[in-house]
Amino acid sequence: MRGKFISFEGIDGCGKTTQIKFLEEYLLKQGYNILVLREPGGTKVGEKVRDILLDKNNFISPVTEMLLYASSRAQLVEEKILPALEKGQIVILDRFVDSSYVYQGYARDLGMEKVKLVNEIATKGLLPDVTIYIDITPEEAMKRRGKREADRLEKESYEFHKKVREGYLKLIKGYSERFVFINGMKDSIKVHQEIIDAVEKYL
Ligand SMILES: Nc1ncnc2c1ncn2[C@@H]1O[C@H](COP(=O)(O)OP(=O)(O)O)[C@@H](O)[C@H]1O
Ligand SMILES: [Mg+2]
Repeated sequence: MRGKFISFEGIDGCGKTTQIKFLEEYLLKQGYNILVLREPGGTKVGEKVRDILLDKNNFISPVTEMLLYASSRAQLVEEKILPALEKGQIVILDRFVDSSYVYQGYARDLGMEKVKLVNEIATKGLLPDVTIYIDITPEEAMKRRGKREADRLEKESYEFHKKVREGYLKLIKGYSERFVFINGMKDSIKVHQEIIDAVEKYL
């Protein structure tokens, strides 16, 4: 049987990494075969692209940024995601194509059409079965990120993160059937419970 593909989305600091860890532990206990991957990265080549993208000393134009994300994603789809799904694994992704729609298409103003064109090539049309969107305010995200050193994207302004959240909310309205909206402003155990309830419907 083909596996399932779950992606996590939301602004930096919303709790994706925390919740993926919880979900992975939960699903492992249930006996599922899980593969967790992150974007950008997740492959040898992709991790090199990640270093370029997150290096705060790099100036990267919006189009270059879109293409770099797409190239990391293309490698991940071919090398890891498709083979894992073929084997029947549950693949959990920390960000996928929706991040490009929101960050490059919306927040960087490249437009959805360009992002769609490039990413249909990169993903071969693959989309997640379910996308968990964790919603928090940019203020709360800033507080949560406060303790760690910021990468190139995390160093963006408050206005940028506000626009990213706006972009997610617009995107979800457009494609609501694949997205699960999770209120991330609660404590992480409550958020985890809501995510389990949502994911179990898809397994
Ligand atoms: N529900 C929550 N309430 C308060 N703090 C949280 C919650 N979820 C995560 N955090 C903390 O916020 C910070 C960012 O969380 P993280 O999972 O790394 O977010 P992301 O991967 O989306 O950037 C971490 O220090 C984490 O421990
Ligand atoms: Mg993270």
